[in-house]
Amino acid sequence: MESVQNFTEAEFYEATFDSRAYIDTFYSHPGGHEGENYLLFVLQQLSGTFCSGKYKGQRLVEVGSAASIHCVISACAHFDQIIMSDFAESNRQELSRWLRKEPGCFDWGPVIRQVGQMESGRNPVQVEDLLRARVKSVVKCDVRLENPFHPSTLEPADCVITSLCLEAACKDLPSYRASLGNVTSVLRPGGALVITGALGETFYIVAGQRFSCLHLTSDDVKKALEDLQFSIVEFNILKWDSEQVNHVSDFDAMFYCVAVKSI
Ligand SMILES: C[S@@+](CC[C@H](N)C(=O)[O-])C[C@H]1O[C@@H](n2cnc3c(N)ncnc32)[C@H](O)[C@@H]1O
Repeated sequence: MESVQNFTEAEFYEATFDSRAYIDTFYSHPGGHEGENYLLFVLQQLSGTFCSGKYKGQRLVEVGSAASIHCVISACAHFDQIIMSDFAESNRQELSRWLRKEPGCFDWGPVIRQVGQMESGRNPVQVEDLLRARVKSVVKCDVRLENPFHPSTLEPADCVITSLCLEAACKDLPSYRASLGNVTSVLRPGGALVITGALGETFYIVAGQRFSCLHLTSDDVKKALEDLQFSIVEFNILKWDSEQVNHVSDFDAMFYCVAVKSI
């Protein structure tokens, strides 16, 4: 287990995180990385959530996006404005390169086509164009701050998505609980939080560099949400198949949760 003193916090990401290696490693194939099928799982879950028609509105904020768009592919048809965010400038730059269609930017085509197939043949080119049009900004955020978007203040959002960020950002459970409160402060009453992440993970590796992860149980996450007066609508778990060797992280399971903020 990583010690609290050595936990790799946001400043370590700013200094060392290889934004392109991260998405090359984990998001090049819709089937996932090295036999783990988390990406397919989360794409299916997101598709189910947003195709249900229950979650829509004017504004969606994603917190801790890195340079990845996979969390907002299904959602982009249902929100007029999408704001993406991350602490590390290299992530925001890599994401902006894709939004501007710069030569050599990451190819999200395979992942977008996969979502298109899940959603009754949504045309991948149209999905890609719509997503680019709806992402209005990529901003700096720090989940440790009461207002994570300081010095800006965002308009209340109808939906907040955060994926694999809080357990990477928070060195202990009190910080996790506080950061969850910070991140969801931007959500309007009645708005939906989509949170997905790792359970039982203590580290993951990107381009040979090890990053800490807060060891969480599903009860830790559920309790934190309930203490913030969220109603959990669904909480689904994908267990790691222990027959397989995982060279880049030590998670036991991944979770996907939709929760609604009390009115
Ligand atoms: C494991 S990556 C997850 C990225 C992406 N959301 C995904 O699902 O693949 C963790 C991200 O958290 C970001 N991060 C770390 N500390 C943070 C903080 N204090 N505030 C905001 N983002 C932070 C890192 O820069 C990194 O992009």
